[in-house]
Amino acid sequence: MKSVESHGFQIPIVGLGTWELRGRDCARLVEQAIRLGYRHIDTAQLYGNEAEVGQGVLASGKRAEVMVTTKIAHGSLAPFEAERSVKESLHKLRLDIIDLLLIHWPNDRVPLAETLGAMAKMKREGYVRQIGVSNFTVALLDEASKVTSEPIVCNQIEYHPFLDQSKVIAACKKYGIAVVAYSPIARGSAKGDAVLEKIGAAHGKSAAQVSLRWLVQQDVVVIPRTSKIERLEENLAIFDFELSAAEMAEIAALSQRGKRIVNLAHAPDWD
Ligand SMILES: NC(=O)c1ccc[n+]([C@@H]2O[C@H](COP(=O)([O-])OP(=O)(O)OC[C@H]3O[C@@H](n4cnc5c(N)ncnc54)[C@H](OP(=O)(O)O)[C@@H]3O)[C@@H](O)[C@H]2O)c1
Repeated sequence: MKSVESHGFQIPIVGLGTWELRGRDCARLVEQAIRLGYRHIDTAQLYGNEAEVGQGVLASGKRAEVMVTTKIAHGSLAPFEAERSVKESLHKLRLDIIDLLLIHWPNDRVPLAETLGAMAKMKREGYVRQIGVSNFTVALLDEASKVTSEPIVCNQIEYHPFLDQSKVIAACKKYGIAVVAYSPIARGSAKGDAVLEKIGAAHGKSAAQVSLRWLVQQDVVVIPRTSKIERLEENLAIFDFELSAAEMAEIAALSQRGKRIVNLAHAPDWD
């Protein structure tokens, strides 16, 4: 699988998102995804499924080849609590190391330097391989880059054709931080979009595949979620066609809709 590099760390360019996947179905989907070639699984403390994700990874028999991401919950960013919660995540996931640990959402009540300091300590102590952030704005990336002792390898942000993220992406480039797109098929609403459907038809692909291809063609990592086994394959089958420059531009123009899907009360001031 192709990957995106950040500070010497390779992030597989397609991962499986697992928000809302639960119980046996979650474990089965994770196992099946890995069998089909996924090498990147995205979970979070808040998803309440780390144990099932861990079961799926274990059952695949391919743990060593898979990059597992989890995220520290918004309310657990104070150093002591961060450390405690990550040890709990490790236990639930049944892993001895978390490949990529993210701050799920920024929290201005906890100094960023303290959380990043705690994460750097976990890395030094050997139970976290790499650290990163999620939902960080340009200003937060500037601050993080100043205070961190370890490289930040990704910023996981909402990104799909209907949302312009050019400012934060430029900041990621400046700091060598990989962009990981969450909601990369706009929670399923790429399907049915007239422009994406038309371009897909020209390539014999679905609108969802066009949305994913548009992102990976910008060297953006994608983590689509599905609860359906057949869609696992569909969302991976995006490397046998290429969008032209004109198609890339036509899709980029859809961002004029400014459709942000994930906007919580504690979200930062978006760029
Ligand atoms: N860091 C953060 O704050 C944050 C926030 C949101 C999400 N995330 C992560 O990003 C992952 C993906 O984002 P998301 O779950 O918000 O949205 P998404 O992946 O853009 O969309 C998921 C939805 O699209 C449908 N779908 C999947 N493949 C499809 C296809 N080929 N054709 C048509 N519909 C399809 C799924 O339905 P079916 O199940 O019926 O296939 C599901 O309803 C999450 O699972 C999570 O891991 C992170």
